[in-house]
Amino acid sequence: MHNREFESLVDTSDEWIRTRTGIVERRVAGEGETTTSLAIAAARQAIAVADIDPRRIDLILVATCTADRLLPGAAPIVQQALGATSSGAVDMNAACAGFMYALVTANGLIASGTHRRILVVGADTLTRWMDWKDRRVSILFGDGAGAVLLEASDLPTGLFASVLRADGSGADLLHVPAGGTACLPTNDTLARGAHYIQMDGPAVFRFAVQIIVDSTREVLDAAHLTVEDVDLFVPHQANRRIIDAAVRTLELPSDRVFINLDRYGNTSAASIPIALTEAIEGGRLHPGDNILMSGFGAGLTWGTALFQWGVPQRVPATMPWQTVVHQGLTERAARALSVARRALAIADRA
Ligand code: ACO
Repeated sequence: MHNREFESLVDTSDEWIRTRTGIVERRVAGEGETTTSLAIAAARQAIAVADIDPRRIDLILVATCTADRLLPGAAPIVQQALGATSSGAVDMNAACAGFMYALVTANGLIASGTHRRILVVGADTLTRWMDWKDRRVSILFGDGAGAVLLEASDLPTGLFASVLRADGSGADLLHVPAGGTACLPTNDTLARGAHYIQMDGPAVFRFAVQIIVDSTREVLDAAHLTVEDVDLFVPHQANRRIIDAAVRTLELPSDRVFINLDRYGNTSAASIPIALTEAIEGGRLHPGDNILMSGFGAGLTWGTALFQWGVPQRVPATMPWQTVVHQGLTERAARALSVARRALAIADRA
């Protein structure tokens, strides 16, 4: 759906949307498509790239805030469709930060030794909760899904450091007031449009810029690395101006930032895995690269993590949506390796 299509719905323009958000078009789930149908498609492609039998997956985490139904969650539907018969399945709802929460959780379970293979899917259809007549919200969101498979491995790659945080005092800044157990759907809530997303855009904007900057600095400190060590930054794709402001403050060169929100808008928990996949397909990630990812969303919630990339050569250029992360040695070993690499680079320059 192109920006121009909003011009006949609300008082807006392609120009306004482009300059205030960077978004040009977004994908809207069609009739018969749901969050789980998108999640299943992404998961199948990730499994094909990883070339594993779905019965060898130990756990499926679906990051979503728009499960098909309030009960049950989306993950068991995905698990059944994949034939992942030995897998647990659970949703993680941290809105747009959901993928980062699921990724870091999966990493911890693998590092602890309790799980070997975890499928992490980010999938959302926020357009279903949108008042198309609300120009402050409707122009921002799109639907989508992306998936990664994490696997225990001896490769010296994986997570350096991460931050997962929340601030529930901002719960009302971005919410759907009705439809949950606190406010059941009634004729009145429908008439008031209380089942649609409501958002204080400027407040969310300020929060987002601040947390990207603060959590990135915290993660880099914990990893004993600097902004110069980041080869690629894949932020949550909410608004180009949010990303630009954060990147400017961090003094991260723009050629190391991956942005694709112009084509998808804000796909919530799907935005980082979709961007990650396109970064791999576009040859922007190489073995040994340090990749920074940062997500933020309703709650308020946020999560930022720094990974060292594993084996992108297994990803064919033609398949969209999927990616493979090979989870490697412990955090400390990965950090030691990176410190050694930096020492070698400094020695080389000297
Ligand atoms: N077209 C034209 N004018 C508009 C539109 C529109 N689509 N939307 C708002 N305006 C108007 C406003 O009414 C206002 O007019 P006024 O000055 O006459 O009152 C003016 O534009 C400025 O409005 P602001 O809200 O201050 O505009 P801003 O520059 O902040 O942009 C936006 C709004 C794009 C929503 C921005 O605040 C934003 O992106 N915030 C972050 C939102 C976000 O990322 N949310 C998702 C978080 S992730 C998750 O969990 C779902």
